[in-house]
Order: sequence, then structure tokens, then C-alpha cells
Amino acid sequence: MEIVVGTILTIVAVALLFVIIMGIFFTIDLFFELPYVGAQKHRIETIMKFASIKKGETVVDLGSGDGRLLYAAAQRGAKAVGYEIHPFLIGLTLVRTKLKGLTNNIWVVRQSLWKADLKVADVIFVYAKRVTMPKFEDFIYKNAAKGTRIVVNTNPFPNKKPEKTENGIFLYKV
Ligand SMILES: C[S@@+](CC[C@H](N)C(=O)[O-])C[C@H]1O[C@@H](n2cnc3c(N)ncnc32)[C@H](O)[C@@H]1O
Repeated sequence: MEIVVGTILTIVAVALLFVIIMGIFFTIDLFFELPYVGAQKHRIETIMKFASIKKGETVVDLGSGDGRLLYAAAQRGAKAVGYEIHPFLIGLTLVRTKLKGLTNNIWVVRQSLWKADLKVADVIFVYAKRVTMPKFEDFIYKNAAKGTRIVVNTNPFPNKKPEKTENGIFLYKV
């Protein structure tokens, strides 16, 4: 009996510690240039509509978080590439990719998004703070191929006119 209670208490303590560490981690993360916030479910449909992905196209998510846009894009036939630096989010994406049977369609690159190869992209996803949008605009328009569709969540580019806007989502073309 004592062993069972001891084991349960240890499991509860480890789980609590995990939750506390993750809480601290994500709170600190909010103060960084590009914190983790997942795209809201009701906006993912609009993002996919604007992306208008054709089978075999390459989609790049700059800061892929828990991979929710990668799954949605891969389910529409894309080769989905996510750049992410947060080890927990990379692990989560890889596990869920396997569970969803999408390992042939999703790649997560553990590398800074500012080193991403944008030339391969037919579609690019961006979801960032307003203060970071000038940097994204400059990076993408300098490095992406002409005709690339860019789907931006929440904060628009400061100097470019979107082709379409709906539900807090902006569509641009390089
Ligand atoms: C606002 S979230 C967007 C998540 C996802 N794209 C979505 O829409 O659900 C930004 C993500 O970028 C990641 N990130 C921050 N700086 C990065 C960097 N330099 N390189 C790659 N990823 C980065 C964060 O860990 C976070 O997961």
C-alpha cells in the first residue's frame, strides 16, 4: 500500500513539476521576438482558403509551433516544411505527425527561420508580433521567388498591400 501511494505521489509531483516548468518556459517565451501562439481554429480555414494549395506544392511555415498549419497543409496534398527552434514544440509536432500518418508530407527543420530557404516555397505562412512584421516583409520579399503566396495571420505587412483580407488573415503575392 505504501509503495502504491509513494508511486502515485511521485507521478503527481513529476507531472506538477513538468506543468510548472512548461508554464515558466512559455511565460518567458512571451517576451521574446516571436513567442508561441497557435493559429486560432476558426482562422485556419481562412488561411487554407487563401493558400489555395495544389497537390505537391511546397508550403513553408516560418515558426511552425505545434504544427497545426503543417497538418492542415499536408492534408491538402502539400509538402509542408516548418522551421522551429522550440524543442518541446518540435517533439510534439513530430509525434503528432507520426500519429496522423503524415511523415511523408511534413518536415520540421530545427533551425532559425531567418535562415530558411524560401526559394522552394509556393506558399509561406507568417504569424508574428506587429513589431516583427517589417523584418518578415523584408526577409520574404528579398528571398522568396516571384509569385509565392504569403498568408499572414493577424498583423499585416507594414508596406505591402494585401490581395485579399478576411477574418484577420491577409494574402500577399511576391
Ligand atoms: C506565433 S507562433 C506561430 C505558430 C504557428 N505558425 C501557427 O500559426 O500556429 C511563432 C513560432 O515561432 C517560433 N520561433 C520563434 N523564433 C524562431 C526562430 N528564430 N526560428 C524558428 N522558429 C522560431 C516560436 O517557438 C513559435 O512556435
